[in-house]
Amino acid sequence: MADRDPAQLPQHLAIVMDGNGRWAMRRGKPRTYGHQSGSEALKRTIEAVMRRGIPILTVFAFSCENWNRPRAEVRKLLDLFLKALNKDVQELHEHGVRINFIGDRSVFNRTLREGMAQAEQLTCSNTRLQLNVAVNYSGRSDIVQAAQRIAAAAATGTLAAEDLSEEHLNQELTLAHLPPPDLFIRTGGEKRLSNFLLWQIAYTELYFSDVLWPDFGAEALEQALIDFSGRERRFGGLSQVRSA
Ligand code: FPP
Repeated sequence: MADRDPAQLPQHLAIVMDGNGRWAMRRGKPRTYGHQSGSEALKRTIEAVMRRGIPILTVFAFSCENWNRPRAEVRKLLDLFLKALNKDVQELHEHGVRINFIGDRSVFNRTLREGMAQAEQLTCSNTRLQLNVAVNYSGRSDIVQAAQRIAAAAATGTLAAEDLSEEHLNQELTLAHLPPPDLFIRTGGEKRLSNFLLWQIAYTELYFSDVLWPDFGAEALEQALIDFSGRERRFGGLSQVRSA
């Protein structure tokens, strides 16, 4: 397919990878089998995102609410993260991917925490793709933590309450150093945000796909990009036709 105008390509893509469990159950397999296939879909998608020249990808791998799942499923998900850290990070590094984990990692065991820190350190100079993996992440918690830091600054007199701006709050959030997502994709047919990047997606284009995550790949991504390239982004303003 011919390359489109890069201005019509999202610079930051955010994905909620949903549908692993249903994908597995439709095949008479345990939900964990779906997560295994989901991690392969993630690898395919990372490759496709790099081929399309999208510089930032943020994926929701594990939400704070996912702890409520059966223990065996949670254990499998954490095993998959560890396996990915041991096996896939080197390859991602060789392809120029910079990896960053967002979310509260303090709850994970030491092996996982160290694996995450090593992956971040190893890849910190890469520039081809910035990959943010949200683990034990909650958009609301991110905002609350930002508010706590701001309240502390106000309490010590470093910041006057009336000087607090959107820019200021934004600076305290996890992805402050990156532009907000241009496109949000959720697979699996559900149409909700599920506490992902709540502040950052204020003007993001939303795309919901019925494809279950393990079936997602270059072709499904292309469909989303075609849809995005036809969107008119007004950021609260008027369209060119209506303002003429
Ligand atoms: C949602 O599907 C998916 C998850 C809770 C986990 C996403 C994890 C991966 C894709 C695995 C690999 C990730 C890394 C970083 C190695 P679901 O279980 O909610 O599916 P359902 O809606 O059909 O039940």
